[in-house]
Amino acid sequence: MTSTENGTSRPWADGPFDLISIASLGYKPGETVEPYHSMAAEMIIVHNCLIRGINSVYLQCVNVERSSASVPAFIKYASSWGQILHAHHITEEKWIFPEIEAITGEKGVMDVNVQQHHAFEEGLKEYTAYLQNAETGKEKYDGAKLKNIINSFMPVLWQHLQDEILTLKAFDKYKEKTDWAKWTKDTAAKVVKATQTAAGMVVDLPFMVHNHEVAFEQAGSWPPIPSFVFFILKFLYFGKNSDWWQFAPCDKSGKARDLPYAL
Ligand SMILES: [Fe+2]
Repeated sequence: MTSTENGTSRPWADGPFDLISIASLGYKPGETVEPYHSMAAEMIIVHNCLIRGINSVYLQCVNVERSSASVPAFIKYASSWGQILHAHHITEEKWIFPEIEAITGEKGVMDVNVQQHHAFEEGLKEYTAYLQNAETGKEKYDGAKLKNIINSFMPVLWQHLQDEILTLKAFDKYKEKTDWAKWTKDTAAKVVKATQTAAGMVVDLPFMVHNHEVAFEQAGSWPPIPSFVFFILKFLYFGKNSDWWQFAPCDKSGKARDLPYAL
């Protein structure tokens, strides 16, 4: 674990579960990737948002109990992560992976990744159910218990998030099959469009934006939408659940900041 740009030694959301480096695709930070690696590069950004998200939950779930008034918002923040992770995998299985099969002409090319999704399904269900019970008061919130649940599935999930990048890395063999850069751009735009629901704009989008560090390996602004549209979306929707985003590792501009309960 390292400190944030603020220079403090407090643990930050780049651990305990490691972020995925663009080096795993064979590139240096800031280097333009080959078109057939566009989806892999995009997926690294998304997976890193998910990893920062669970790291920020993991690092604060016990200490947040010191401020009982903050616990309900923290539960909402942690629940959002579970829901977004689930939605990410559903999108892949129902939509992105079938398109990849159709383009490459290789049935089952992403199957190993779908199998991996099942390996952490139970743990994720337990995580979601526990947070739901804590939210409704059926169970008392216990950060140590939440941490144990995360420990039960996170190593398997982390491996999946890394392995999926390696599956996509091998797409150089399909480089002539389509314009991969265009396909990735269109696919990312479709995902953003699908997020434009009442809940998506006030939960999914702000969660991901507050978990994307713009400076990390020169990733830059994300998601890929025009800056004036992004500005308006933030203005309209990011205030709604702002008490949840206090637990996130970045501000709404993607700048790293200290986690309030990671001491
Ligand atoms: Fe993925």
